[in-house]
Amino acid sequence: MQKPLIIAPSILAADFANFGAECRAVEDQGADWVHVDVMDGHFVPNITFGPAMCAAIRPYIRGIMDVHLMIAPVDPYIAAFAASGADIITAHIEAGPHIHRTLQAIRNTGKKAGLALNPGTGIDAVPALLDIVDLICVMTVNPGFGGQSFIHSQIEKIKSLRQMIGSRPIHIEIDGGVTVETAPLVVAAGADVLVAGSAVFKGGSANNPAPYGANIRAIRAAVGA
Ligand code: DX5
Ligand code: ZN
Repeated sequence: MQKPLIIAPSILAADFANFGAECRAVEDQGADWVHVDVMDGHFVPNITFGPAMCAAIRPYIRGIMDVHLMIAPVDPYIAAFAASGADIITAHIEAGPHIHRTLQAIRNTGKKAGLALNPGTGIDAVPALLDIVDLICVMTVNPGFGGQSFIHSQIEKIKSLRQMIGSRPIHIEIDGGVTVETAPLVVAAGADVLVAGSAVFKGGSANNPAPYGANIRAIRAAVGA
């Protein structure tokens, strides 16, 4: 059975001075989840925000707050992001020496655990993690910035992961360069969660949110969802 398509706009492409209203606007316009990109200037060459910001926007999000941690080390901050109201906490396999422990620590907070894989990372470690992961985030750009071009070589990885997952209740999330052109490719390969920053927030604002809705509907239409 085809899983329902989940669209998770990344607020990295929203107005940083207006996050609360942006979250509310994009949900009102049809977003399923809100994707929150946390960057430390160390694991990735950019800095965004931390758990205090996540806690501040939490009251403006009715649905799922999907927190993508691009930080190393990650373990010391899991409790703070859990307390900030995240529903899903995703950590990178490249960010620490013990990803199984990290995923366990996330699950132990009662949150869903996500595993992110950079474009240059293989999937050999994934079978040993399937029992402890709720979401696998396939990065289709190198993490750090919005608005980059989709890396097509990741399509084969998505197909392999979909096969590996079988009937387990694990999401495959795609992050980076998702557009009306690339969305159908990743959904056909087996993805069910699409993160999209620029492709959702382009042309609109919290005061003029209709373009967000049009952009979200265009992505759904492109994949036939
Ligand atoms: C990249 C972030 C992405 C990014 C996606 O490091 O993890 O979530 O915001 O942005 P677009 O959709 O513009 O590629
Ligand atoms: Zn992300």
